[in-house]
Amino acid sequence: MLTIFGSINIDQVIRVPNIPVPGETVLGDRVMDTHGGKGANQAVAGARMGAGTIPVVMIGTVGDDAFGKAALQNFAENKVRADCTVLPDCATGTAFITLGSDGENAITVVPDANGLLEAAHASVEVLQKTSVLLCQGEVSLKETAHVMGVHRSANPNGTSVLNLAPVPQDGDLGTLRAALETCDILIVNEGEAEAICDLLAAPDKRDLSALAKAIGCEVVVTRGPDGADLFLKDGRVTHVSSPQIDPVDTTGAGDTFCGAFAALLAEGREMKPALAMACEAAAKACCAIGAQTGMPRRHEILKDTDPS
Ligand code: RIB
Repeated sequence: MLTIFGSINIDQVIRVPNIPVPGETVLGDRVMDTHGGKGANQAVAGARMGAGTIPVVMIGTVGDDAFGKAALQNFAENKVRADCTVLPDCATGTAFITLGSDGENAITVVPDANGLLEAAHASVEVLQKTSVLLCQGEVSLKETAHVMGVHRSANPNGTSVLNLAPVPQDGDLGTLRAALETCDILIVNEGEAEAICDLLAAPDKRDLSALAKAIGCEVVVTRGPDGADLFLKDGRVTHVSSPQIDPVDTTGAGDTFCGAFAALLAEGREMKPALAMACEAAAKACCAIGAQTGMPRRHEILKDTDPS
């Protein structure tokens, strides 16, 4: 079973010719509401990649509003089992996304209900059955570290994957260390890897093998069109490349990578082929507007599988 513990948002996307710099005003075309939130995106990517081979469970919180209802409906449509809590008198998380014509974006997130997600929202029975637990940095890191700890005790053979996006800048170092030491695989992009090295005062930011060794987990660094690198804690390094595409919207590409990778691990695949397929899935996700719109289905990546 793949379980995702994390954020659920509705994304309000505005397309603009160029992303405004401070003090600049630009005109957008219209506001599009799409499904988002790093946790929700990863759950949908995992379910599309898994296509029923593994159960996918989402643990998150939404508000008692129309956005919350729409998010839960979206999980049902994507065959994600939503073990979600609806919080009274609370709004569902929202992200305001400015999307440039080159496919790049600028995102402002208002966490609302996501800020109230606790490890206690995850049932121990679910964590016992969870072979891969996937978490991100968009909810409390303290609660995330806690839920990964409960997962480790409940299922010692399970794997916890932490996509530390974004890297919390205001949290305490002890919590960051606890989260890094509790996960088995850390996934970050290049900027996030550098931010973690800065926070941990790593002697050499370019030496990510040293980071993997220091925190005692495997580290995956995503590099957009340049693919991804896997730094094993024993010092070995592996590179996987990404197919080249003309991106329409890169929102959710990292989430697609993480969700697809985690689903493939949960069904028992090795890390390297899973990473290569995750790169392919992330590239495909960039070909449509909206974090989840372009996320591929299993048969688009595993070509010999049934398209139904
Ligand atoms: O990673 C992309 C996601 O980040 C968006 O869907 C948005 O909701 C923000 O959380």
